[in-house]
Amino acid sequence: MAKILTGIQSTGTPHLGNILGAIIPAIKMANESNEESYLFIANMHSLTQIKDKKTLNDNTFATAATWLAFDLDPEKSCFYRQSDVPEVTELAWYLSCFFPYKRLKLAHSFKDKAENLKDINSGLFSYPMLMSADILIYDANIVPVGKDQLQHLEMTRDVAARFNNLMGETFIIPEAKIQDDSNYVTGTDGQKMSKSKGNTIDIFVDDKALKKQIMKIQTKSLSVDEAKDPNDCNVFKLYKIIASEDDVKNLSLRYTQGGLGYGEAKEILYSEIINKYAKNRKKFFELMDDKQVVEDLLIDGAKKARVQAQKVLKRVRANVGY
Ligand code: ADP
Ligand code: TRP
Repeated sequence: MAKILTGIQSTGTPHLGNILGAIIPAIKMANESNEESYLFIANMHSLTQIKDKKTLNDNTFATAATWLAFDLDPEKSCFYRQSDVPEVTELAWYLSCFFPYKRLKLAHSFKDKAENLKDINSGLFSYPMLMSADILIYDANIVPVGKDQLQHLEMTRDVAARFNNLMGETFIIPEAKIQDDSNYVTGTDGQKMSKSKGNTIDIFVDDKALKKQIMKIQTKSLSVDEAKDPNDCNVFKLYKIIASEDDVKNLSLRYTQGGLGYGEAKEILYSEIINKYAKNRKKFFELMDDKQVVEDLLIDGAKKARVQAQKVLKRVRANVGY
C-alpha cells in the first residue's frame, strides 16, 4: 500500500470548497490506507505571504482544528505543523542545489503571484523546493492535490530524479493524485469558490453570519411561481453537493414545478448546512476554545514525523558526502 501525504497552507480558515475538495478526500484516503499517512499544515509556505505573528498562528490553529473537526485520526495519520520539522528546510537547500534556476522561473504559480502580490520575496520563488522537501523527506508515494499544484509535483519528481542520478538512489519518486476539478465547489457568485474571489462559504462562523453568506448567493430574478432550472441555480449547485440523493431529487422537482422562490431555496440550503455540519462545527468551536489540545496533538505528530524525516535526511547527507 501507498504512503499518502498532503499539506494545506494556513492562509485562513478553510472554506467549504477547501473542506469538500481537499480535506475530506485526503482524510478518506488516509483512513483507507493501511500505511501511515502524513497530513500537515504548511505554515512555512504561508510565511511567503503573511508577515504577522498572530495571524500566522491563528490560521495554523484554525486549519488544524478544521482537519480534526472532520475526523482526522491522529493515531492513523501523522498530523503536524511543517515548522516543527526543521529537517525539511535542510533538505530544501540540498534540493535547490540540484534544480535549474531556469526551471523555477517557469513556475506558473510563481508567475501568477509575481503579477498579483506586492511582496515578491525569494521564498515565493523557491516555494517548490520547500514543497518537494515536504514530500521527499517522508518517502511519500501518493500526493493528493488540486490541479493547480500539478506543476509543483512535476518539479518534485524531477528534482528527486536529478538527485538520484547524480548522487545515487536516495528518493522515492512520488505520484500526484489530482482531485477532479470538474466537480469544483461553486461560490456565492457561481464561480469556483476561492478565498481570493471573496465568494466563499465559511461554515466556521456563527449561525447568523453563515446565513448571511447563504443569502448573498447570486440568483436569477424569477418570481416564486415560475418554473426554474435547478442546474442553472447557484443555490441548488451547492445543495446538490451536500444533500442526500432523495433530498436532491425532491428539491429538483420543486424547482421545475414552480412555486419555490429563491428565498425559500436558500433557507433550505442553510438548514441542510446547519444540520449536516452540526457535529463538525461544534468540534471546531470546542477545539478553538481549548487550543492546548490541538497544540499537544501537533507536537506529538511532529515527534513521529521527525523520526521518519531524520532517516531520509541521513540517507541524503551520506549520499552528498557530509
Ligand atoms: P483558495 O482558492 O481559496 O485560495 P487553495 O488554492 O488554498 O484555495 O486550495 C487549497 C485546497 O483546496 C486545494 O487542494 C484545492 O484544490 C482545494 N480547493 C480550493 N477551492 C476549491 C473549490 N472551490 N472546490 C474544490 N476544491 C477546492
Ligand atoms: N502548495 C500546496 C498548496 O498551496 C500546499 C503544500 C505545501 C503541499 N507542501 C505540500 C501540498 C506538500 C502537498 C504536498 O495547496
